[in-house]
Amino acid sequence: NSEGAQATIGINGSQHPVPADPRVSLLDMLRHQVGLTGTKKGCDHGQCGACTVLVNGVRINSCLTLAVMHDGDEVTTIEGLGTAEKPSAMQQAFVDHDAYQCGYCTPGQICSATAMLEEIAAGWPSDASENIDGPIEASADEIRERMSGNICRCGAYANIVDAIREQAKGDAA
Ligand code: FES
Ligand code: FES
Repeated sequence: NSEGAQATIGINGSQHPVPADPRVSLLDMLRHQVGLTGTKKGCDHGQCGACTVLVNGVRINSCLTLAVMHDGDEVTTIEGLGTAEKPSAMQQAFVDHDAYQCGYCTPGQICSATAMLEEIAAGWPSDASENIDGPIEASADEIRERMSGNICRCGAYANIVDAIREQAKGDAA
């Protein structure tokens, strides 16, 4: 934004003023100022992934970044991916595969998985894939490595990986 213009952040397609208090995290802005409580606070220290959102299409931990740093950015939360009536393909895959128990980690898992498949499509290597020459496959190991920042206290990992693999195959088809 040019000087003097109001600093705003695009959130799920609408503009919101940057909080006056520069100490507010993007996570707290989403939950408390904008009322988007789908994004969860687990640890507030970058260790659980429950707060994962997309900023300009890239996944980040929203607890680790200040809202004021995102003037002009486009943020997508779990509410922006789809709705109960019209879920995104990844949201539907989590339902179909029973990929949650308490559901607290689920918005972060789905946001993370959505961006993660884009990273694979764009050829971004991971520790699991750095020795692979050619297109990266979304194997179960590759998915586990790339989703390792998203912790599930309930241990729903097997079904989470199944849901993501289904979507990875869908993308490849
Ligand atoms: Fe952000 Fe745990 S709440 S990583
Ligand atoms: Fe409970 Fe993952 S479903 S923390």
